[in-house]
Amino acid sequence: MIKLGILEGSLRKASLSRAVARAAATLAPEGFSCVALPSTGTLPLYNQDTFDEGLPDSASAMLAAVADIDALLIVTPEYNWSMPGSLKNAIDWISRDTSNPLAGKPVTIWSVSPGLLGGARVHEGLRHVLHSLDMQIMAKPEVQVAGAKGKVDVEAGTITNPDTEAFLRGHLSGFHTFCTKWGAGNA
Ligand code: FNR
Repeated sequence: MIKLGILEGSLRKASLSRAVARAAATLAPEGFSCVALPSTGTLPLYNQDTFDEGLPDSASAMLAAVADIDALLIVTPEYNWSMPGSLKNAIDWISRDTSNPLAGKPVTIWSVSPGLLGGARVHEGLRHVLHSLDMQIMAKPEVQVAGAKGKVDVEAGTITNPDTEAFLRGHLSGFHTFCTKWGAGNA
């Protein structure tokens, strides 16, 4: 069994990407046990002075949560052709753990947008950052949920478009194969 952590890039209550993240847990194949990671909004803005004084509880909780997973799915919107600052802030906090709890762990990225490009431009920059954490990135196929307003039920946290649902289900199945290849869950 591979423990898959799901990290949401948006803080917004009526978030489209959060709905997709919630749906992911129901679309994952049996070999994944899914867990929602703490919201990135629980973390203060990273400041090295704060870190030197000791970890805030929220950062300890995030670090413990990521240490406990075998693989990571990030579901995020695109902000100004990049990742939301709160997501980058969470990655910066995680990166300060000298044991590097994400090193070697497989990761995949789903972007979600009401726009036609589906947040396509967030992928490359986010992959760049995840490389610095020594993660194993499944680069292809990329997942971009475009025109998301017509494809998700925000209240229910479900995918309403059957083609999108089938694509995401298939992607998680492929990601499970990728995780197995990299030995995730065998420790
Ligand atoms: C956006 N949005 C946006 N969309 C996009 O496709 N590409 C972009 O570069 C941006 N940039 C951007 C910047 C900022 C600061 C905001 C607030 C929004 C629109 C964005 O996709 C839309 O608001 C989504 O609904 C946000 O995702 P959630 O919160 O619904 O998951």
